[in-house]
Amino acid sequence: MDRVIRIGLLGCGTVGAGVVTILDREADDLAARTGARLQVTRVAVRDTTIDRGLPLPAEVFTDDPMAVVEADDVDLVVEVIGGRDLAGTLVRRALELGKPVVTANKELIAHEGPELAEAARAGGVDLAYEAAVAGAIPIIKPLKESLAGDRVTRVVGILNGTTNYILTRMTEEGAAYADVLSEAQALGFAEADPTSDVGGHDAASKAAIIASLAFDTTVHAADVFREGIEQVSATDIEVASRLGYVIKLLGIASEIDDEVAVRVHPTFLPKAHPLAGVRESFNAVYVEAEAAGELMFYGRGAGGMPTGSAIVGDVIDVARNLLQQAPGPFPSSHRRKRLRPIEDLQTQYYVLLDVEDEPGVLAEVARTFGDHTVSIAQVWQEGSGDTAQLVLITHRAREGDLRTCVDALEASSAVRKVTSVLRVESEVWE
Ligand code: NDP
Ligand code: HSE
Repeated sequence: MDRVIRIGLLGCGTVGAGVVTILDREADDLAARTGARLQVTRVAVRDTTIDRGLPLPAEVFTDDPMAVVEADDVDLVVEVIGGRDLAGTLVRRALELGKPVVTANKELIAHEGPELAEAARAGGVDLAYEAAVAGAIPIIKPLKESLAGDRVTRVVGILNGTTNYILTRMTEEGAAYADVLSEAQALGFAEADPTSDVGGHDAASKAAIIASLAFDTTVHAADVFREGIEQVSATDIEVASRLGYVIKLLGIASEIDDEVAVRVHPTFLPKAHPLAGVRESFNAVYVEAEAAGELMFYGRGAGGMPTGSAIVGDVIDVARNLLQQAPGPFPSSHRRKRLRPIEDLQTQYYVLLDVEDEPGVLAEVARTFGDHTVSIAQVWQEGSGDTAQLVLITHRAREGDLRTCVDALEASSAVRKVTSVLRVESEVWE
């Protein structure tokens, strides 16, 4: 085979090494599928002195990523450096030069996706980012292409492997949060700055990308309501389990009355729901569409080889398009939906209170909920002596009302502390 597509790889860490390994291991098959050999000609890293144990000659490595983008012997750029500023500059330059880009960078796409898509369109080349959402799981193409003939109404996903790993270990083994986070970092799931994972920023970026594609609109990461798992306690996990739930960090994107709502937060999820069985660092995305009904996509959402698989899939697509000199379909954002504020969310809530263990306390707590039009579905008291814990599950309520109710509970003399407030996703699947 004479034709060669020359790849410039920006970054050769966890994911970059996975890409190089797959390109080498499957070289002949990939060439046959693509119609050209895929050859890594340049690699940008910070430290060129490290022996990375990869099948690449030492001379391909450089610490100058812009030189890789601009090199004459680079036809296609794979960006796995991560972060926004440098990666954004490099991706924009590649597109300006008419070089297609494959990236795993959800942060960049969630913040600058529409602008970069426009740059790709202007350059007449592809910008592909299947690996940016849920690692190995094909979800970008299904939303952009396979479901283009349908109307997606709701997408619910476990979109972050690190937090799913932490919550699984805390739930199943009672492991301590900090210990499990260190393990996730050692296993290569966590971002360079793991607050991006545990704070829900990483999942929010992925939810923004999903919502943009699912609803043909533009949702930026900053538009996504976000809460992380830092405040989820062993007590919350234990109470959830006793009541028939697991706690998962969910990304939820839905279209309601011509508005789009996108949120990421730890959630009580019934144990019977298919997403509740998604354990360890696995991800899953549950899609509801008008004609197709319910679909579920499941797999490894992080790690070098799984993410490398999605990247190499994109590389083949983009390389084929390069050979045909015609880019693939660009995402559509023609519907320009309004964003629904979080205060207008209607869902159920779990509220955990430390209260005085005295006559009249339960009545006062119940009155406070009633005064704010939040109806209580279930209540339990635990503990005795000076203080007790009250566990409450509400009926569906408006988030704005629940928040003013929580403010009033915090000010109430009957309540020592509002310990936890988490959203409950239940009736939708019952
Ligand atoms: P790593 O930190 O493991 O790798 C980053 C690579 O970029 C390293 O090789 C590093 O060089 C290189 N690099 C960083 N800054 C520079 C610079 N200024 N100049 C040249 N090279 C530089 O990150 P990951 O591989 O984990 O992640 C890469 C991207 O993939 C991120 O956008 C991440 O969000 C995304 N992603 C990651 C997943 C995962 O499971 N890890 C899954 C899905 C997406 P050096 O090696 O010398 O330090
Ligand atoms: N840090 C991310 C996660 C990597 O834990 O899911 C995949 O995007």
